[in-house]
This record gives sequence, structure tokens and C-alpha cells, in this order.
Amino acid sequence: MAAKALPLLLALAALLITAPSTHASSCSAADRDALLSIRAALSDDAHLGVFSTWTANTDCCANWYGVACDPTTGRVGYLSLRGEAEDAVMAPAGRPTSGVMSGYVSDAVCHLDRLSMLVLADWKRITGPVPTCIPTSLPSLRVLELPGNSLTGDIPAAIGTLSRLTVLNLADNHLTGSIPASITSLGSSLKHLDLANNRLTGRVPTDFGNLAMLSRALLGRNRLSGPIPASVASMPRLADLDLSENQLTGPVPAALGSSRVLASLYLGANRISGNIPASLLGNSGLGILNLSRNAVDGAIPDAFTPRSYFTMLDLSRNRLTGAVPRSLADAAYVGHLDLSHNRLCGTIPAGAPFDHLDAASFASNSCLCGGPLGKCT
Ligand SMILES: *[C@@H]1O[C@H](CO)[C@@H](O)[C@H](O)[C@H]1NC(C)=O
Repeated sequence: MAAKALPLLLALAALLITAPSTHASSCSAADRDALLSIRAALSDDAHLGVFSTWTANTDCCANWYGVACDPTTGRVGYLSLRGEAEDAVMAPAGRPTSGVMSGYVSDAVCHLDRLSMLVLADWKRITGPVPTCIPTSLPSLRVLELPGNSLTGDIPAAIGTLSRLTVLNLADNHLTGSIPASITSLGSSLKHLDLANNRLTGRVPTDFGNLAMLSRALLGRNRLSGPIPASVASMPRLADLDLSENQLTGPVPAALGSSRVLASLYLGANRISGNIPASLLGNSGLGILNLSRNAVDGAIPDAFTPRSYFTMLDLSRNRLTGAVPRSLADAAYVGHLDLSHNRLCGTIPAGAPFDHLDAASFASNSCLCGGPLGKCT
């Protein structure tokens, strides 16, 4: 996750640092006071000196760790503190260190009203809520990343007010409540949404498909229920969809198989039922499909083609019946295949994709034979 966000972070930092500066910016007193309040609410438990440069009599735009200002306005545009960073402060001995901070995210963050990037990531023990003032107070916010902490409470209901938001990452916290309905009004901005590994309940918003710019939607390991909204099938940029380990019901929307950009679909460990859409298996762009641990039934569609290329195809632990489809032998590549714990029967077809597979890929079915399971009698 950090690796994905890094280029964006660097680009933003470069923008802030290299923009033409006629006069050196210096910290506004209000921004400095806000930063000092943010500091006062946090505790650098690993004594890494995260805040050693944050002192009242120095220019916060000059060399405060993790802070950068817009050179023309002199206002703080960027606050980014990562517990897993590899810079000199976080890894003084050249070895990556894992930082720990406790405390909470002060509402004073809302006084930094020119902020475009707010990152407090992977500090493990930061508790309390995501400040509810953020959506209404920080209109320029493009990146909001607070993953890997111990945040509680709801995602601010007005999150959809942040009309410039491109990245929202609140993964790996203890957030409760539902995904705010307002989020779907970020259709022209939001590119990356990561809310994985929280305690979110309720449904995925029906009009989730309005998020036309979204390329990664990671909502796995929550307590979401209800159906997978059919609108996800019409998202023109959605490449990675992870809804695994929730309590979702109903079928996989068949139209999802027609996506030209979908590369990975993680739906494992839900209560998904119905058949596997043939279009999904015939989709040559889809490289990862995990439907494991659901209640999917019927036959595996005989819809693979010579352009099918799966690095992972996990259909294990469902109620699939019928035979292993013949066309699977035509697939260009199947890296990890798991069809175990179903009700399949018949001869496993011979072919290149099966050469490297062992019996575990086919274990615990009704009456499979051939291939790695040995001769049919
Ligand atoms: C598929 O998803 C399930 C549930 O998240 C997980 O337990 C399993 O390991 C995944 N399969 C593979 C091959 O990663």
C-alpha cells in the first residue's frame, strides 16, 4: 500500500518544493499553532524524535519533519508522518524502524485549511475518531491517509464534501458504522479507496458505480452485508475490487465479466450464491479471481479461452457441480488453481495448464479422477 502511494507523495512533494519561489515562504502563526496542537495530542512512543524539529521558534515551512508549505502562500499544504518510513528520522541506523505513536488526531488539523495532503499512517496506537470537521474544513484535501492506527467511530458522514479527494485510505483501523452514502458524490475525483480491515457494517452503496474515476476499491475484512451492487459493473476504471471476508449475499453481477479493465476480483469468504458468470472466466484481462468460501453453485462455465491468463483462480469451498471444464486446458496460463472442496465429478482434462498442479487443487470433491489424482477406473 505504501509503495503505491509513494509516487503520488513524491510528485506532490516535488510540486511543493520546485514550484517557483520568489520569496521564501514562512510559516503562518495560525498554521504553526495548529501543528503544535496536533503534536501535543500525539506521543512518539518509540522515541524516534519524530517531532524533534517541531519547535515553536523555528519556521514550520523550513525544516519541520513531514511538513511542507505552498511556496507562494506560505500555508501548510502537506502533513505526512509515516510509521513505516525509511528516511533518516525513522531509520536512523539505516535500518527501517517501525514507529509507534499513541494519542489522537487533534481537531486542530482542521485549522490547516489549505492542506492538500494529510497522512498519519501506520502508527498503530493512535486512537479516537477521524475528526468530523475534516470534510467541511479542508476543501483542498486530495489525499487523506490514516491507515494502520487504532481509530474508532464512524467515517465522517460528510466525506463526500471533499470534492478534490483522490485517495482515501483508512484501512487497518477499528472504524464502525457504514460507508457514508455521500462517498458516491466523489465521482469525478476519487481514484483509490481503501477501507479494508475495519468493522464497517451495512451495505455497499447501491450507486457505488458513480465513482467513475475509481481504480482500486479495497473493502475487504469488514462486516458489510447485502448484495454486491450491480453498478460496480459499469465502473470504467475499476481494476482491483476486494470485497473479501464480509457477509455479502446474492450473486456476482454477471456484467462485471464484461469489464475491460478489471484485473483482480477478491470475493472470498462471503455468502455469495448463484452461478459463476461465464463472462468472468472468459475475460482475458482478469488475472485474479477468488470466489473461495462462498455458496456458489452450478457448473463451472466452459468459457476459458486461449487468452485466459489467471495467476490465481480460487473457486474452492463452494457448491460447484459438474466437471472441470474442458476449455480450462486451453487457457494460456493458470498459476494457482484451487477447485477443492466442491462437488465436482469426472475426468480432469489433460493440458499444459494442469502440468504443474498437484492433487490439492482438486481435493475433496465428489468423484474427480485423472491428472494429478491418478487414472480413472
Ligand atoms: C481466497 O480468499 C480467501 C478469503 O479471503 C482466502 O482465505 C484465501 O487464502 C484466498 N486464496 C488464495 C489462493 O489466496
